[in-house]
Amino acid sequence: MEKKGLIVAVDGHSSTGKSTVSKILAARLGYTYIDTGAMYRIVTLRAMRDGLIRDGKVDDEGVKRVLPSIVFGFKYNDEKKRYESYMNGEYVEKAIRGLDVSDNVSLVASLPYVRELLVEKQREMASAGGVIMDGRDIGSVVFPNAEVKFFMTASPEVRARRRYEELKGKGEQVTYEEVEANVRKRDYIDEHRETAPLVRVPDAVLIDNSDMTVEEEVEEMIKLIRSRYESR
Ligand code: DC
Repeated sequence: MEKKGLIVAVDGHSSTGKSTVSKILAARLGYTYIDTGAMYRIVTLRAMRDGLIRDGKVDDEGVKRVLPSIVFGFKYNDEKKRYESYMNGEYVEKAIRGLDVSDNVSLVASLPYVRELLVEKQREMASAGGVIMDGRDIGSVVFPNAEVKFFMTASPEVRARRRYEELKGKGEQVTYEEVEANVRKRDYIDEHRETAPLVRVPDAVLIDNSDMTVEEEVEEMIKLIRSRYESR
């Protein structure tokens, strides 16, 4: 019988290219890619559209009410060669990546009742193994027993510059200063929230990609995943 694929946790700071490398790893290994950040972004979009976030405050009762009705959909679009997110069947990939959602998502991701539901869904989605899951709490909370764990980071300036170029490329009207402020604010909230703060667990392999190319990173990561798989 063939061995089940591994569960690979890719955690780290925002805008470190976690999703870029995770997608490449998944394609190279024939694994499923799961973007948990997109799930928190979808909940944020729903809450914003329903007017449940005002002046940095969340209407908890309102979010608890709409949460169970959100249907998360993720699929790979073969024609466009990209992963796409859907909310109750609606294409929301572009909407969830905008700066307005990015500005509110840490707030939503700090709500324990949101995390509880999403973690449950993430465990279900990975039950067959052979998964690359990227997020903040994958190696610490969702899969503390994941066979491979990475923690990705890079300097805030490098990350802000990358994110700025990405948003500009998509035609968003933003300044570098706004993006850097957003990166720093998200780091702070992610690291200081009470529920499942972003931490580097001791068994996670640190990847600081400030001065690394994507290819170098992927090679280093794939080598480790393969050796863990072989030795299992
Ligand atoms: O990876 P991303 O930037 O799309 O994540 C969006 C936000 O969601 C970010 O502020 C951190 C949060 N998040 C989280 O708390 N836990 C996860 N597993 C994934 C993302």
